Amino acid sequence: KNMNITFAKPSYPPTGAYIVLAWEETSANRAVEALNRKTRGTLKRAMASENFTGKNGTTLTLLAPTGLRAQRIILIGAGKIKDFDVREAQSAGGRILSKLNSLGIKQAAVNVEFVSQTALNAADCGAHIAFGASLASYRFGLYKVKKALTNQVVVRKLAIMGSEPSKMRSRYKPLSAVANGVFFTRDLVSEPANVLFPAELATRAQALSDDGVKVEVLGPSKMKQLGMGALLGVAQGSVQEPRLVVMRWDGAEKDAEQRPLAFVGKGVTFDTGGISIKPSAGMGDMKWDMGGAGVVIGLMRALAQRKAKVNAVGVVGLVENMPSGNAQRPGDIVTSMSGQTIEVLNTDAEGRLVLADAIWYTQKRFKPRLTVDLATLTGAIIVSLGHERAGLFSNNDALTNELVEAGNWVDEKVWPMPMDDEYDKDMDSDIADVQNIGSGRGAGSVTAAKFIERFVDTTPWAHLDIAGVTWSKKSKKLVPRGGTGFGVRLLNRLVANHYETK
Ligand code: BES
Ligand code: MN
Ligand code: ZN
Repeated sequence: KNMNITFAKPSYPPTGAYIVLAWEETSANRAVEALNRKTRGTLKRAMASENFTGKNGTTLTLLAPTGLRAQRIILIGAGKIKDFDVREAQSAGGRILSKLNSLGIKQAAVNVEFVSQTALNAADCGAHIAFGASLASYRFGLYKVKKALTNQVVVRKLAIMGSEPSKMRSRYKPLSAVANGVFFTRDLVSEPANVLFPAELATRAQALSDDGVKVEVLGPSKMKQLGMGALLGVAQGSVQEPRLVVMRWDGAEKDAEQRPLAFVGKGVTFDTGGISIKPSAGMGDMKWDMGGAGVVIGLMRALAQRKAKVNAVGVVGLVENMPSGNAQRPGDIVTSMSGQTIEVLNTDAEGRLVLADAIWYTQKRFKPRLTVDLATLTGAIIVSLGHERAGLFSNNDALTNELVEAGNWVDEKVWPMPMDDEYDKDMDSDIADVQNIGSGRGAGSVTAAKFIERFVDTTPWAHLDIAGVTWSKKSKKLVPRGGTGFGVRLLNRLVANHYETK
C-alpha cells in the first residue's frame, strides 16, 4: 500500500516518468544536456517553448518523448545549484511526489547522477530527495472503506538513480527511521478517540519494544500510590482508565553522560473540557489533544530505529477529560505528586494538570539532563502564533537557542515567549498553592507555561505549546493536511546536533 523507494544505478526507465533536476546555471545542466541529445533536441525545444529556466518551484512535463521508452520526462526546476542543500533536496522530493500524484503516475525514476556540483554530494542528495518524497506520501487511509481518499497517493514505485546506490541507501536509512517516527505520530494523532483511548494508546506505545525501547505502563493504582492527584483528578470523570507510559532508549556509549534527555507529552485522548465543557463547534478537534504524547512516542521510535547514540526517556500522561457524575468540579483542590496543592478553577485547563505530575515523576525518577515537554496546551498560542510556529517557553537560554536552531533547520519553527516572574503571580491561589488558570488578564499561553514551571526543579526545561501546529487543514510540501507530526523532526534534530556521542 505504501510507496516503495529503491536506489539504483542510472538507466533510462522502460516505463513511467523519468525525472531530472534542472538548475538555473545552464552550465550545470549536464543531465539535461544528455537527455536532450537522447531525445534528439526535443527536450530543449520544449524548454524554450515553455520558457522553462530551472527556476525553483517550476516543472516541465514532456509527453511521449522521442528516443525514450518512458511515457514522460519531468524536469524539476531546482533553482541555483550553489543553493541546493539538504532542505532544497527534501523539498524537491516533496514536489516530485505531488507532481507525480497529480499526474496519476504510478512509477518514476529520478536521476541524481549529475548533482555533484551542488553543496551536497550525490548520495546525500538522493537520500534527502527520497526522504522528502516519503514524508509527502503519507496518508491516513484506515477508515476509507468504500471510496478512495480524495488525495490518494497513486505513486507505487520511486527509484532514485545515482552512481553509488548503496551509499545512497545507507544515507537514507536513518532518514527513513525518522520518517517512520513521523508517520507513527501522524497515525496516532489521526485516530479517533473511540479507538484511541488511554489504554489503547499505551498499547500502541508498547509496540516500540520491537525497536529496542523499554516500555513500562503504569495504571491508576500505581499512580495513586505515587500521589499523582493532579493527573488522576482529570481522569476521574471518564470510564476510560488513565495510563502513564515510560519509554527508554539507551543508545549512548558506555563512557558518555548517562543521565537521559527527557521528553514528556500531554496525552489527553479527548478533551471535552470536563464540567467546564467546551462549545460543540469544532470539539471534534479535541481528538488530537494527545498530540504531545504522539510526538514523544514517534520521537522515541525515530531515535531507536536510527540507533541514536543517546540516552533518552519519553514519558506520556494519558487521560480522557469527560464530564460525568464523577468528574472533577471547578473549585476542587487536588494534591499533586510534588506535594503542591492545586485549585482547579477550570476543568478545561487539564493538560497542565497532567503535565504537572508527569514532569515531576520524570525528574524524580530519572534526574534528566534536560526536559522538553510538548502539549496542545492553549487556544491562546493560536491567537499569538497561528499555525506557523510553536510557542517555546524555557528556563534556559542555551536550550532555547538549540531549539530555535533545530526548528529552523527542519522547518518546524518555534518562537521564544516571555517567562517573566510577573506572569507567575497570576497563578497564585487564595486557598491553595497554585490555581490552574490565570486571572483572565490575557497571556493565556504564558500563564499556562508558568503553571508548569512550578513543577520543574532546577533541570534545564523547555515547553513547546503545539496547539497551533499539530493539525493542519492545508497541505505543505512535506506535510500533507491532517496530523503533522510537528516536533518529531525538530527534537530528532536537537538530539543529533547536540546530544549524541559521535
Ligand atoms: N486542549 C486545549 C487547548 C487547545 C485549544 C488545543 C484549541 C488545540 C486547539 C486545552 O486543554 C484547553 O482547553 N485550554 C484552555 C485553557 C483555558 C481554560 C485557560 C483554552 O485554551 O481555552
Ligand atoms: Mn482543555
Ligand atoms: Zn486539552
